[in-house]
Amino acid sequence: MIKVFIAGGTGWAGSELSKAVFKHPNMRLTGVLSRTHAGKNLAEMLDLGTAHIPIFDHMETALQEVEFDVLVEYTTPAVAKINITAAIKKGKSVVIGTSGLIADDYVEIEKATDENNASVLAVGNFAITVVLLQKFAEIAANYIPNFEILDYAHEDKIDSPSGTARELAHRLSTQRRPNVHVSEDELVGEKASRGADLEGVQVHSIRLPGHVISIEAIFGLKDEKLTLRHDSGTSAEPYVKGALLAIEKVGTFKGFKRGLDSVMDLKL
Ligand SMILES: NC(=O)c1ccc[n+]([C@@H]2O[C@H](COP(=O)([O-])OP(=O)(O)OC[C@H]3O[C@@H](n4cnc5c(N)ncnc54)[C@H](OP(=O)(O)O)[C@@H]3O)[C@@H](O)[C@H]2O)c1
Repeated sequence: MIKVFIAGGTGWAGSELSKAVFKHPNMRLTGVLSRTHAGKNLAEMLDLGTAHIPIFDHMETALQEVEFDVLVEYTTPAVAKINITAAIKKGKSVVIGTSGLIADDYVEIEKATDENNASVLAVGNFAITVVLLQKFAEIAANYIPNFEILDYAHEDKIDSPSGTARELAHRLSTQRRPNVHVSEDELVGEKASRGADLEGVQVHSIRLPGHVISIEAIFGLKDEKLTLRHDSGTSAEPYVKGALLAIEKVGTFKGFKRGLDSVMDLKL
């Protein structure tokens, strides 16, 4: 039985996962983190019967008062690193779902993971269709040296680029650095219009009403181009299965891993 604590277990993504963990035969949800609902019973809030699932407002309090093996971090980048580090120091395994952490944050988290002999799995997107896009894009990057990323989301998404775009840029950069035909110094006009440089990969974020979440990896060769695109729907359901897999797998290794495929047996 894996005891799970979900920071952000009352949120849009976290509440779907809370319900799934609660119903999972091999998992027990021992508590969640949320400022506005602290002190309440999550089971009552989510209509999960007569169970008592406490809601805490601070990670430190939760770490003192409730037992768990795995922390799922599903809050905001503002508080995620504090929660993750506190849990690692107490010997907990951690699944990171929160987006908006930057490359330096991951370096710090990896260092803390190694120092505490802990297990951490960071997943920019738990949806299987995104995992596939990541793999297809990695294959394409090996054949096509020119590529950029487009990241689309609703107008009120606070993190930019998205966690999915950051993870994809990171992964593609480990395959190769894309060709740069006009360097930043040579550019004429508005340099910002070329997007953000993430580990050598140009990422362009669009935030508009009417958009949910989409990502495109665009590859160009002379007289031909390839677009790999993923579109999310409006529910948080596609993330649940991947997050459950991450919870199951995170305790099976030591160290820091990034990407759901790092714990999957993908046949490509
Ligand atoms: N990896 C993936 O596949 C994936 C999928 C979906 C979402 N995400 C990411 O997951 C994160 C959460 O997304 P969401 O849409 O579920 O957001 P959301 O609906 O706003 O939920 C955020 C949750 O975090 C809690 N929270 C926020 N700040 C907190 C703080 N300082 N202390 C304690 N609890 C805090 C909120 O409760 P209170 O406001 O009551 O504190 C709420 O429970 C985002 O970064 C999002 O991009 C990742």
